[in-house]
Amino acid sequence: MALRKLVAGNWKMNGDRAALGELHAIGAAARATSQVDVAICPPFTLISAAAEVAEGEGISIGGQDCHANAKGAHTGCVSAAMVKEAGAALVIVGHSERRTDQGETDADVHAKAAAAIAAGLTAVVCVGETEAERDAGRAVAVVEAQLEGSVPREGQGVNLVIAYEPVWAIGTGRTPSAADVAEMHAAIRAKLGDVLGGEGANVRILYGGSVKPGNAAELLHIADVDGALVGGASLKAADFVPIIEAAG
Ligand code: PGA
Repeated sequence: MALRKLVAGNWKMNGDRAALGELHAIGAAARATSQVDVAICPPFTLISAAAEVAEGEGISIGGQDCHANAKGAHTGCVSAAMVKEAGAALVIVGHSERRTDQGETDADVHAKAAAAIAAGLTAVVCVGETEAERDAGRAVAVVEAQLEGSVPREGQGVNLVIAYEPVWAIGTGRTPSAADVAEMHAAIRAKLGDVLGGEGANVRILYGGSVKPGNAAELLHIADVDGALVGGASLKAADFVPIIEAAG
């Protein structure tokens, strides 16, 4: 059974209030393509304004990170409940940029994902190998280990999404071959079965890394690719809308 596709945009540290105007055209495409769930994850500062604009547009808003604790002395951090109260329905955790820049471990990502789920958010848990790991033939083993360490066992199709993002494909214009994506997504599906039992079949697995209008149709129709996590091409509706359409 094919899962309903999710196309999520990760604005990273980009965007301002004016950029929220893009949400209208993105929403129109989301409503026209009723088979696809659409989300935009702007910086924290825009979540609440984005949620207001998105209301009625048929798109969800997400955060890009949350703290594992509910509250406390963590200057500069934001809890999952705060992200939710601001108007988000989902939150990305464990993006490779945070694993690298902030030194987040699988245990950190697991704790954040569990906090997100407990707060009523959908956790989008990111995994993916570096180029050196792929060249060494270890890509699948690396991703399986990340899943083992990062996926909360209470995850279900309704509150957990996995995003497979090869680190070397993010922002580079390079993508794995369709065969490599198929191999990895099948391995992720099998691993989800190990860690979540039968519920693993209901968890969507997104592909991310240099998804563009020109390659979206091919990537989105590979077996066990249940959507896309899109960085650069999510900033402008002119790029993001064709990706939504390719998923439909
Ligand atoms: P990209 O980023 O689409 O710009 O490669 C994807 C991501 O990091 O989520």
